[in-house]
Amino acid sequence: MTDSKQITIAIDGYSSCGKSTLAKSLAQTLNYIFIDTGAMYRAVALFAFKNKWINELEFNSQNLIANLDNINLHFEKNEVTRKPEIYLNGENVESQIRTLEISNLVSRVASIKEVRIKLVSEQQKMGGKGGVVMDGRDIGSVVFPNAEIKFFITAAPKIRAERRYKELLASNSDITLEEIEKNLIERDFLDSTRTESPLIQTVDSILIDNSLITINEQLELALKYVYKKLKKITKF
Ligand code: DC
Repeated sequence: MTDSKQITIAIDGYSSCGKSTLAKSLAQTLNYIFIDTGAMYRAVALFAFKNKWINELEFNSQNLIANLDNINLHFEKNEVTRKPEIYLNGENVESQIRTLEISNLVSRVASIKEVRIKLVSEQQKMGGKGGVVMDGRDIGSVVFPNAEIKFFITAAPKIRAERRYKELLASNSDITLEEIEKNLIERDFLDSTRTESPLIQTVDSILIDNSLITINEQLELALKYVYKKLKKITKF
């Protein structure tokens, strides 16, 4: 008899290198929960932005910290697209958090210790039972250091910028490739050099560089590792 264990899969890596795309497809294939933790940091950045505590030049982090208890986040599946979308205090903010404006603010918000403590604790509750694919920057290092599988995803900055450009162009025709590349490079730098849980590749993670492979090839590759692990830990 097969005892199919539900494992935890952690996916970390640089900005815009397809972590969420991989996480989503893995979760669908395995019938696991998918959690995009970047959406949670983006929603907190949106909250700070709407309250005028942050802009390109200034950040009143003390006001944000004092109001963290007033931020309620949850995900709900969009019945049409079948993808989870994020809600901030009851409002669907999925499209508001994906703008370049929020991308330019989010890394500063994500560097605040109190913000990380709140979100990590929520992420651990959401994924604590296993059967989860979670993507972000600190999943394998901080949120689930004992995850059965850890992937670290990367791709050449130019390729990442071009992919994101095509995506964003659909909703914003004013955007330029240069602006996007600048944002990616800045975020990679801030996310990897911050004091609080910086983005690192843990020694036990599997490195995937997807610069030259397709989304499907990446999924197949990742699934090979997952099935190998499941075979190893499943009792017959
Ligand atoms: O995955 P993303 O690009 O949507 O994430 C937005 C930002 O949030 C990213 O620049 C870094 C931060 N982040 C983080 O610090 N830790 C996570 N687990 C996820 C995202």
